[in-house]
Amino acid sequence: MVKDFNWCYSGKKVLITGNTGFKGSWLTQWLIDLGADIYGLSNSVPTNPSMFEILDLEKNITQYWGDIEDYQFVRKTIGEIKPDFIFHFAAQALVGVSYSNPWQTIQTNVMGGASVLEAIRHHDANVTLVFITSDKAYENVEQIWGYRECDRMGGKDIYSSSKGAMDIIARSYYLSFLRHQSNIRFGIARAGNVIGGGDWAKDRVVVDCVNAWQQEKSVEIRSPKATRPWQHVLEPLSGYLRLGQCLSENKLSTEKINDFNFGPNSLVNQSVIDLIEDLSKCIETSPTPPFIITGDIPFQESQLLKLNCEKALSELGWQPTLSYEETVAFTGDWYSQFIKGDLKGLMNLTKRQINTYSELSKCRFATWI
Ligand SMILES: NC(=O)c1ccc[n+]([C@@H]2O[C@H](COP(=O)([O-])OP(=O)(O)OC[C@H]3O[C@@H](n4cnc5c(N)ncnc54)[C@H](O)[C@@H]3O)[C@@H](O)[C@H]2O)c1
Repeated sequence: MVKDFNWCYSGKKVLITGNTGFKGSWLTQWLIDLGADIYGLSNSVPTNPSMFEILDLEKNITQYWGDIEDYQFVRKTIGEIKPDFIFHFAAQALVGVSYSNPWQTIQTNVMGGASVLEAIRHHDANVTLVFITSDKAYENVEQIWGYRECDRMGGKDIYSSSKGAMDIIARSYYLSFLRHQSNIRFGIARAGNVIGGGDWAKDRVVVDCVNAWQQEKSVEIRSPKATRPWQHVLEPLSGYLRLGQCLSENKLSTEKINDFNFGPNSLVNQSVIDLIEDLSKCIETSPTPPFIITGDIPFQESQLLKLNCEKALSELGWQPTLSYEETVAFTGDWYSQFIKGDLKGLMNLTKRQINTYSELSKCRFATWI
């Protein structure tokens, strides 16, 4: 019998580091809906507004406030909770900030991740750790085909190199220690940029659009022709949940590192202009024209970064669910509701989108979700 997410996570203790951020908030809501008992570890709520506050998540979870770089705090927290699962998201997640604050980015992303790994090395209870890094961990050689899990790690900017370094350290922790500990199940998950309601981080195209359109102004864009493998935040989250499930059910070999890419269908590669025009059709306050082009590029970001997700399909049975049109509609609907100021309605909409996503996955291919 194929066991579903509900069977896997209901009643389980799940610790999410970085739970107050964009991805962490969506995963928290999804796992609450699945009946899990959620513990969060973050240093702050990173944006205002924030998905964490709009969904009023703190009232339904146990929150630990502290710094992921503080190894003693991380070890004590994990020891106290004894979680069945840990999803590690906490990070300085912005390329732009890594240019203005490289030292802090390295501290948070590398030493913060190492705190979690070292704490787990000393942990006696059973736990499944899903360690989230990024597509930017790969050495970007501007190739047109997708990166595979066997490709080299690298990074030409500080954010990317912090993720590449963390990935190498995570692998070496696994190979040196964790794979010899029968109580630990461990996997690494890499995904690219995601879109979806509830993001307010700086220098992200959808967030810039919403901020401008809320004031009925055209958004300023810098790289109109750049294409991106746009994916909804629920896509990689479903991959992380599936990886946690397969690890916890001992479905994956422990002889090798269980690292997986989670990306959209390879046909999804629309330009920034396409995305903005399509999104503007979903959001009533967007002006005509919805964007103006400026030449001002604040920092360099790697172009042409695609992931090959065949390993996730073959070993986890995971594949993306939403089309590009559905991804845009989910995102546009969420921000339209936000602009209308119906914050209570947003809680229901978020739950509905998670539910719709799960139903679409089930009827398209997945029986486990
Ligand atoms: N959003 C994306 O498009 C994307 C793409 C690829 C990978 N990722 C990765 O996924 C993870 C989550 O991304 P996100 O977009 O949700 O990021 P986010 O910036 O929205 O959230 C980051 C979270 O980490 C916490 N945090 C930051 N520094 C901390 C510290 N020193 N101690 C404790 N907590 C700290 C913040 O409070 C917040 O909860 C990150 O590892 C990021 O690099 C994100």
